[in-house]
Amino acid sequence: MVAPGKWAVVTGANRGLGFDVAKQLAASGRSVIITSRDKAAGAAAAQALSEAAAPGARVVVLQLEASSPDSIRALAAEVQAEYEGQVDLLVGGWDRWDRINNAGMTVDGISAADHEATLKTNLDGAIDITLALLLHLAQGARVVQVASRRGMLSTVGPGYGERIKAAATLDEVRAAAHRFDPDHLAQGPATGQSYAVSKAALIRATQLMAESPHFKARDISVVAVAPGWWCQGARSILLASEDNIPNGSFSYDGKLLDWTSK
Ligand SMILES: NC(=O)c1ccc[n+]([C@@H]2O[C@H](COP(=O)([O-])OP(=O)(O)OC[C@H]3O[C@@H](n4cnc5c(N)ncnc54)[C@H](OP(=O)(O)O)[C@@H]3O)[C@@H](O)[C@H]2O)c1
Repeated sequence: MVAPGKWAVVTGANRGLGFDVAKQLAASGRSVIITSRDKAAGAAAAQALSEAAAPGARVVVLQLEASSPDSIRALAAEVQAEYEGQVDLLVGGWDRWDRINNAGMTVDGISAADHEATLKTNLDGAIDITLALLLHLAQGARVVQVASRRGMLSTVGPGYGERIKAAATLDEVRAAAHRFDPDHLAQGPATGQSYAVSKAALIRATQLMAESPHFKARDISVVAVAPGWWCQGARSILLASEDNIPNGSFSYDGKLLDWTSK
């Protein structure tokens, strides 16, 4: 086991906002475990982050493919073996963001396979990573799920929104989101509707985890955050990790958002 201390885990941190979040944490003196699905990309990112880290802050990289239960199990086993009870911040929810900009992802092009793949990474991956790490987190840890304003209920349309909002268990959230209904997916913005459904469901899953006795018993809080665009994205995520943002909430740049607002 590594020397005791507090660690943050930032998934999908070899590039993008995850990298920026890890960089700011390391620069402020926090030791960070980043995950990357590609080993070489992860090693390069860890090297760059180590160079930006404050003295004493450590950066290590572990491999994770969020859509693979085996990979999630391996990550949890590694955290248990080396960092048991030492992780007090988990930033997760990275995803198939690329799909929203994919030229093929038009209303006509929404396919059941694409919808399923988006949900598997964005929703199932985020939930499964959190549940797999739950027992190994420090008492009082915070989990930040990176969602999006595209996950506001008003943007997903009633066909999905009402079912997701009514879901009372994580399994019901998954079922509501995985259901493939092209007519309702086509409502709202023309592209990325599976993405929006995945983020709305992640916000509901966050609320349910925050209320769960399994989390409460160990004082572990779970929040969802909309990062916004590049310039302030990492800031918004880091503000959501602070104590003044209440358990179970959805925020942007340190301000609470009403997920149900029109
Ligand atoms: N950027 C924005 O303006 C914005 C706005 C609203 C919401 N968001 C949300 O913020 C998050 C990050 O956005 P970003 O712009 O930083 O995205 P990005 O640059 O595309 O980075 C995504 C990260 O997630 C990883 N990833 C993707 N699929 C994965 C999988 N199946 N398993 C493990 N890792 C996976 C990527 O790894 P690879 O390098 O291997 O692909 C990469 O490290 C996303 O949840 C996005 O929806 C971003």
